[in-house]
Amino acid sequence: MTLRLKKSLDGFFDALILEKPDKKHSFKYETFPVAGNARCDLLPRMGTITPEAKMSWSKVCDISQVKEDVPYAATVEGKKIGIYRLQEEYYALEDICPHAYALLSQGFVEDGKVECPLHEAIFDLRSGRCLHGPGGRDLTRYPLRIRDNQIEITLIKENGS
Ligand code: FES
Repeated sequence: MTLRLKKSLDGFFDALILEKPDKKHSFKYETFPVAGNARCDLLPRMGTITPEAKMSWSKVCDISQVKEDVPYAATVEGKKIGIYRLQEEYYALEDICPHAYALLSQGFVEDGKVECPLHEAIFDLRSGRCLHGPGGRDLTRYPLRIRDNQIEITLIKENGS
């Protein structure tokens, strides 16, 4: 049995699909919506994830606590996460810059990008992509959903990571 992500037309992922062999050795698919009325926000490079991947959602903050130019800095299960808002869409990204130790949520946010406060690497908020500077790699993104105006995220591990 495996879980995988279904990719939507705009390049983002919009569902987790549980695949399990039936008795005839074909596959059944069960789809779990993951974003409710919020923007789908899942790891961009995720392929197959392990069956034991956790799907528990952690409450992070109220949507009113996230401003377009002031992200919300959270700690979820010991991980530093930055919550960003772009108009009515929300994104959860790892908050520690991959280059050295700086919290990106303390950086400069503009035009859908965040600039690291230390050495000015620039990351795209939608994809987590490193666009410029010494970031070294893209940021991990996390699934995000909104329930009763509360932002919740889940930390899904990539297969093999
Ligand atoms: S710590 Fe972020 S670019 Fe160096």
